[in-house]
Amino acid sequence: MAFKSFKPSKSRMRRLRPVLLLFVIILSLFIYFRPDSIPTYRPHTHAIASDQNDENGVTCPKSSLMKDVFVVIRTGATEAQEKLPVHFKTILTCVPDFIIYSDMDEIVDGHQIHDILTEVNATIKKTAPEFQLYNHLRTRGRDGLNYQTMFGSGPAGAVDNPGWKLDKWKFLPMAEKALYERPKTKWFIFIEPDTYVMWSNLLQYLSLFDANKPWYIGKHMYASGVLFAHGGSGFALSNPAMQKVSKHWKDNKNEIEQATLKGWAGDMILGKALKDVGVDMFWAYPHMQGDSLTALDWSVEKLERQTWCYAATTFHHMNPEEITTLWQFEQTWQRRNPNGAPLRFRDIFNNLVRHRLRAEREGWDNISIGTEYSEEVLAKMSQSNVDNLSLVEQNAHNSFEMCQAACEQQPRCIQFSFVPGQCSVSDELRLGRASDTQCLEYSNAAGKCVKEATTTGEDGDIVRSGWIMDRIPGYVYWLDEFCDNVKDIWITK
Ligand SMILES: *[C@@H]1O[C@H](CO)[C@@H](O)[C@H](O)[C@H]1NC(C)=O
Ligand SMILES: *[C@@H]1O[C@H](CO)[C@@H](O)[C@H](O)[C@H]1NC(C)=O
Ligand SMILES: *[C@@H]1O[C@H](CO)[C@@H](O)[C@H](O)[C@H]1NC(C)=O
Repeated sequence: MAFKSFKPSKSRMRRLRPVLLLFVIILSLFIYFRPDSIPTYRPHTHAIASDQNDENGVTCPKSSLMKDVFVVIRTGATEAQEKLPVHFKTILTCVPDFIIYSDMDEIVDGHQIHDILTEVNATIKKTAPEFQLYNHLRTRGRDGLNYQTMFGSGPAGAVDNPGWKLDKWKFLPMAEKALYERPKTKWFIFIEPDTYVMWSNLLQYLSLFDANKPWYIGKHMYASGVLFAHGGSGFALSNPAMQKVSKHWKDNKNEIEQATLKGWAGDMILGKALKDVGVDMFWAYPHMQGDSLTALDWSVEKLERQTWCYAATTFHHMNPEEITTLWQFEQTWQRRNPNGAPLRFRDIFNNLVRHRLRAEREGWDNISIGTEYSEEVLAKMSQSNVDNLSLVEQNAHNSFEMCQAACEQQPRCIQFSFVPGQCSVSDELRLGRASDTQCLEYSNAAGKCVKEATTTGEDGDIVRSGWIMDRIPGYVYWLDEFCDNVKDIWITK
């Protein structure tokens, strides 16, 4: 581990802050996730695996495609130091070729980060409000930035976050520059620092496509009538697709920049450019996921595809803690399955999630966002509707046990969360996360809780969650049955 040479000088301290943060996160992982069936949480992990691929004991996929994939990470100065370090210690240890583009040149943990906005039209840089941040970064670095308003990205952060507004300018320059750097590489993978790439699976998936054809593979999203691959879920472009879009950008730079001024999101602008050169998006759902490990509803079905049955290649909205957890899990899986059996969502549930579910979990919010019971909700209901509730439901907000009973009364309810005065139940199973507040409204688009219960902070007010444990086997059985009709765990048509 990297903590050995710690010397507390001031500038060193600043640089080490992300490392310290990670250390604290890993410590809390030990506390929250007892190592049950995942032995790799023990600190002597490295010794266990030293028979594997490299001297650090990391097990990497043995795909021959690996050297033909260029991973492009898009970040911004307001998040790079906080969010990148975990990647250097996990996923990127197995990625031979990657580059990081941002809105400022800097070095993070010894890795060069490149400013990708140098060639944006100079007039726009002087006049578009979001470039105030960029110009500040160029002249003063991060000094004097108001971090309250700067942090976060996408609709997940503040929509007014200038870091987010600047982000849309990066996509086309990034495609052009990445191709310039690696003109012969077959595949380009674009991700963000809160994207988790299941590298082994992704390589297997890409090997099923002909890289000599133009491919644009991602998680579908629509905005302003344009279909595009969602940036945070990660997407792949083959070399011919990169050639086309890069040429289009060079030929129409001014026009696309004018559109970007009015545009909303960079992934959409790139999707539009690809469409204009005749490259349609390939719908890779559910392989590419917009949700995180903790917020994914394990029974979600879209495009008539039951997520459960398919292999996973990416997750989004992953914080450093979740990235570490999933990475450790993948490492264990790969050691046990040296032939590279792909991890399906059901494998992740059965081997990583399931043993973390409990009848009662204190300080844990499982994101139960079905029916809510509270005095407030009761007060808004008509008398006849209140009378129609069972006694248990009328009292669900009064105790953990009542809340649990209210869930049990409903035939498909599988989880609940409780803070005094508020009970939420849900038919959807989510792992959730350690928390001291209860999530009342979770936004999938934002990938975070947008409404939390207010607690007084007294001891008894910590959120507690539970799952109806004797319903879990039935839930798993129900989902497994969908897979009988799934011929291939990979979507290629
Ligand atoms: C740069 O942008 C300005 C204003 O949006 C525009 O008038 C100008 O033509 C652009 N310059 C180039 C070189 O494209
Ligand atoms: C009362 O509950 C029953 C069954 O749950 C439902 O069919 C009925 O519409 C409800 N009545 C009212 C007034 O909501
Ligand atoms: C957590 O699980 C319980 C039941 O196990 C459920 O009632 C509650 O709503 C869940 N919490 C969230 C936030 O979903």
